[in-house]
Amino acid sequence: MSEIKLASAVDKRRTFAIISHPDAGKTTITEQLLLFGGVVREAGTVKAKKSGNFAKSDWMEIEQKRGISVTSSVMQFDYQGKRINILDTPGHEDFSEDTYRTLMAVDSAVMVIDSAKGIEPQTKKLFQICKMRGIPIFTFMNKLDRDGRDPMDLIAELEDVLGIEGYPMNWPIGMGKELKGLYDRYHQRVELFRPKDASQPYLPLNDDGELVEHNDLEDDGWYQDARDNMELIGEAGNQFDQAKIASGDQTPVFFGSALANFGVKTFLETYLEYAPEPATHHTQEDNDIKPTDPEFSGFVFKIQANMNPKHRDRIAFVRVCSGEFDRGMDVTQERTGKKLRLSNVTEFMADTRENVEKAVAGDIIGLYDTGNFQIGDTIYTGKQAVKFEKLPQFTPELFVRVAAKNVMKQKSFHKGINQLVQEGAVQLYTSYSTGDYILGAVGQLQFEVFQFRMQNEYNSEVIMEPMGKKTARWIDPDQLDERMSSSRNLLVKDNHGDPLFLFENHFAERWFKDKYPDVELTSKL
Ligand code: G4P
Repeated sequence: MSEIKLASAVDKRRTFAIISHPDAGKTTITEQLLLFGGVVREAGTVKAKKSGNFAKSDWMEIEQKRGISVTSSVMQFDYQGKRINILDTPGHEDFSEDTYRTLMAVDSAVMVIDSAKGIEPQTKKLFQICKMRGIPIFTFMNKLDRDGRDPMDLIAELEDVLGIEGYPMNWPIGMGKELKGLYDRYHQRVELFRPKDASQPYLPLNDDGELVEHNDLEDDGWYQDARDNMELIGEAGNQFDQAKIASGDQTPVFFGSALANFGVKTFLETYLEYAPEPATHHTQEDNDIKPTDPEFSGFVFKIQANMNPKHRDRIAFVRVCSGEFDRGMDVTQERTGKKLRLSNVTEFMADTRENVEKAVAGDIIGLYDTGNFQIGDTIYTGKQAVKFEKLPQFTPELFVRVAAKNVMKQKSFHKGINQLVQEGAVQLYTSYSTGDYILGAVGQLQFEVFQFRMQNEYNSEVIMEPMGKKTARWIDPDQLDERMSSSRNLLVKDNHGDPLFLFENHFAERWFKDKYPDVELTSKL
């Protein structure tokens, strides 16, 4: 691909994830977006996947039983000349580690909020990760076809709870049974909910924000309210500020109903006007890798196991950061210095996985992996070594001690643990004093999946002894003295060999700080 062609291909990419609390409507809106993209022809396709009909592997039985989406997937479609990559994120909070890492691979995020509930805990957590990365966030206030909270409250809550300015792009005219439409100041039009004439869903507004042609709607109290509120916000509210949107300090807010497919198209089209193209990525040597740099580079942000239960293969998801991926190309794996040929690669569509021929920055490719990759690995072409910044580590809160039930089967036990840790399914710690293996997780379900997979994929029965909640705090190895460890603060090593304490509780941590005031303790995200 020539330089110009590469630049124009990159320019078309828009890569985002949807962040929301379970049940806010992420699946429903994703499905609508895919319908617009022509990727799925019927509503219900993604839903079927969610309920388990689509599950491909045995260990996903857990997912079926519990009816939750355990794994993320990638969906790609074209719309209005743009190539859109949606990185799906597991909604269940027990799998939030997977979601957090997925957010490292996107250029923007769409925050879906249930307008009856406002900002819920999981949304807040995910928002904070996006905020840390300084990526643009676009908000969709969903379920307008039901009675929800006052739109003014919802906008204020963004600032009060999340600390981000909300800029309403449109305003609901009524809600629930009274929903009439959206007063859309950005497009200078009223978008009608279930218009009498389906070919005329919009009523144009003039520069004063009045309907160009008289309509009965003007006599409606809800319409008056929406117009007044928009006017008030226009005068006294936040000003639309593209720079603030780009830095994640302001979020454009759209109202609608994913289920009724109302306001979703407006959202998508406006989003595409402002969503950023693939970003520059920084390396550990403090170099900037631009998406249009000719050499290929990318990093692994997720590993998914057992797509085919007959083989123990995995797929390593790579976010392309620069250059162009070509089937069969050779790359260097930075961590090991090994050369690898990328011949067995997939691109992700909603209902099929098709072999990908070419991919550029912003795209996600899936590499078949027999155990070579780890989360965070950089791959690149060219003479200049590239090592992208480390993916953040997340502080687990729950811990179990783990051992092989059958002491004769240590080999499969170790193999299983190593592979599952590389995938990021759980975090592994080793006790300094006893060498015991300790697993850390954000949610209990991660342990259950671990146990299930050890048994099913590695034929290794494990014993897990719950240790409960702990506060994990890392310590600078230079400051460490093993005698600092006591019954209330277990000293362990993480997977990188870095030392940390697992404190019984915050009192134990405070006691430690009082005793060793010069020792600095740090937490991960
Ligand atoms: P999630 O992926 O964020 O967890 O949410 P999902 O899309 O599965 O939506 C959760 C529930 O909310 C679903 O109902 C869905 O139909 C409903 N929903 C989504 N968007 C809207 C909307 O705009 N308006 C209304 N009224 N409901 C909406 P469910 O009963 O749990 O599932 P189902 O039995 O309808 O499939």
